Amino acid sequence: MKKKIILAALLFFVVTCLFAQKNKPAPKLGKNKVAEVIAAMTLEEKIHLVMGLGQACWTNPPTGEKTVLLEGEAGRTWAIPRLGITATVETDGPAGLRIVPHPQGLNFTRYCTAFPTATALACTWNPELVEQVGKAMGNEVLEYGSDVLLAPAINIQRNPLCGRNFEYYSEDPYLIGKMASGMVRGIQSNGVSTSLKHFAANNIETNRGAINAVVSQRALREIYLRGFEMVVKEAQPWTVMSSYNKLNGFYTSENYGLITSVLRDDWKFKGMVMSDWAGGKDAVAQMKAGNDLLMPGDYQYDELLRAVKNKTIDIKVIDRNLVRILTFIAKTPRFKNHVYSNKPDLTAHAQISQAAASEGMVLLKNNNDALPFNHIRRIALFGKTSYRYIPGGTGSGEVNYEKATTIKESFDKNGFEVSKPLADIYTHFIDSVIQTSKDKNDKFLVDFHPELALDKERIAAQVKDADIAIITIGRNAGEGYDRPVSDFSLTATEKQLIKQVTAAFHAANKKVIVVLNIGGVVATADWRDAPDAILLAWQAGQEGANAIVDILKGKVNPSGKLSMSFPMQYSDVPSAKSFPGEPIDTPINALYKEGIYVGYRYYQTFKVPTAYEFGYGISYTQFKYANLHLNTSTFQNEIIAKVTVKNTGKIAGKEVVQLYLHAPGIEIEKPVEELKGFAKTRLLQPGESQEITFTLNPRSLASFWTSSSSWVAEKGKYEIRIGSSSKDIRSTADFELPKTIAVEKVSPVLYPNIALKELSKVPN
Ligand code: BGC
Repeated sequence: MKKKIILAALLFFVVTCLFAQKNKPAPKLGKNKVAEVIAAMTLEEKIHLVMGLGQACWTNPPTGEKTVLLEGEAGRTWAIPRLGITATVETDGPAGLRIVPHPQGLNFTRYCTAFPTATALACTWNPELVEQVGKAMGNEVLEYGSDVLLAPAINIQRNPLCGRNFEYYSEDPYLIGKMASGMVRGIQSNGVSTSLKHFAANNIETNRGAINAVVSQRALREIYLRGFEMVVKEAQPWTVMSSYNKLNGFYTSENYGLITSVLRDDWKFKGMVMSDWAGGKDAVAQMKAGNDLLMPGDYQYDELLRAVKNKTIDIKVIDRNLVRILTFIAKTPRFKNHVYSNKPDLTAHAQISQAAASEGMVLLKNNNDALPFNHIRRIALFGKTSYRYIPGGTGSGEVNYEKATTIKESFDKNGFEVSKPLADIYTHFIDSVIQTSKDKNDKFLVDFHPELALDKERIAAQVKDADIAIITIGRNAGEGYDRPVSDFSLTATEKQLIKQVTAAFHAANKKVIVVLNIGGVVATADWRDAPDAILLAWQAGQEGANAIVDILKGKVNPSGKLSMSFPMQYSDVPSAKSFPGEPIDTPINALYKEGIYVGYRYYQTFKVPTAYEFGYGISYTQFKYANLHLNTSTFQNEIIAKVTVKNTGKIAGKEVVQLYLHAPGIEIEKPVEELKGFAKTRLLQPGESQEITFTLNPRSLASFWTSSSSWVAEKGKYEIRIGSSSKDIRSTADFELPKTIAVEKVSPVLYPNIALKELSKVPN
């Protein structure tokens, strides 16, 4: 009897427990621990959540899901309402938010601000200004209802022909690290996410989904990974996007060494990693590598489900990735029920865009103070781009802005008189290009169309009624392809235009200015002697033309400096012979034979002349450097360098002060100098000075030693070079590192899968 009672009580207890379990409310993200939420998920839910809804979500929604949350979104993740898991929306891209401006069914528009391209921003050398740009960009992300801006893009500008260089910042990782950190801080200050992309060594667009970048560990650590490392450590992006390419034999998204050993173990990245859109091939390998989220996703669903069921992948791996995905989701505005206004302050953002555009433009030449304008009213405005300004490049980095003022319009607005007969010629030309095209709606039609050839007589006819000639040269490029070598040079028509306009105007003692509205480096050496001044205006966003006119008329004193070198000719580029890869038409391998000698590191070390060097840019005023002083001549844990910069000219201006380090390079070879610090002065009035302070730490001195997989600062004599550019060094000071320092040991991963014979100073 007693036994029966005990048994009955036990049974009652078990049944009650089961009942309670069944009726227990499901855990909710945000309320319960992430682990509890994961434990409550079905296998199917788990697999759905490690991938997006697929690009098909626009036309063919998977079960039960609403089609589009934000028209123009690049992708989105699954919602699991029973667990409180909201969807997230991912949108492009580096120069502003990319969404559809007038979606069907809405009675208002969703235009976004086109900010200057990353290249133009980098040339400001002003991380605080870039942070302001990021803040404005991130506000549009928030107020239009997105959660993630797929930006910044920070691959090294290894070769001027890379189609996406305009989306990237520089050839130098330190400059990239500082500028992109500002961008991430700015965007994320809105409580929205960035996605630092494309991780890593995505420097070629040709065959981008399969090409294998073969890079030495040293070049990776010092050049290709360094910017990512800095941004991860300095600005903590919420997410990182792996790239399309393979790196040393493995797709980056499938590369455990890259995504886990380097990014998470070495750099302590705490966020989520997503793939580039349909990047990589093997979903199981991606999951194992730590590429948490597959974008745009969906098509890998069956494969992953099968893999878990047949134990090709341990569910613990999926659960580990889910922790990072859920932690990310819980931070997003959509999860926090942010009610977006659809009304970001576009007027204020346009002003920020213009301020950044003005600071990123680089004055390359200004003979006899041709600029700023002096007694100029009537302008002969040449070049189709003067009438069709190019604010940015093509591809996912495009922005759907409301209006990009043209240079002609901006001159009109500022009270200048642009030659009407010439304007008519160009307007007519542009109209006919559009009318005769098959795709009249292609907004890039004119950018890619050859320049109008003007005969001598037509040019000569302009001289009499104009005070000056301005010629704009335009170039565009974008995602998915690289520029042909021919695109590097100006065309015969363009060169002829510059030559003939210059001849005609100079004969009448009138000046000629060339404005470059370009996204990537072009040849200048074979035509730059002709005009009086050259303004490199880049693709500077929707307000770029206004910024150009402000600089030409002297309202703004240019203060941009080159974030990359301008070679004399394409064949001088260190990667020219190996770009895009082998075989040349559909390259499979790209051998980074130049190793660490990218950009100025190469030109300076191997004494190859450049047309304009890294860090170069002139001003309407002059600056004098004085009193370089080090706090010690023996390096202990840091060294502090101070220098005073004085505006000795007649116009207020800002100067970019650059610190290059020359290292002993005895046991390990080093480039002749490397950028280790920079600062932009405030607007200095004539006669005004500012003291600039730089701090170097052991890492600033260190190189990557492959044999021990560590950063080592080699003992010996170092020279600090303070310059106005990488060549224009104004002041130097020495210090001694008495003992070699082993600064940091890192994971010994990412061996090249093909033997590389790298360029070296030491003949071998
Ligand atoms: C690009 C990414 C972009 C993604 C989503 C890819 O093709 O490489 O930069 O963020 O598409 O549009």
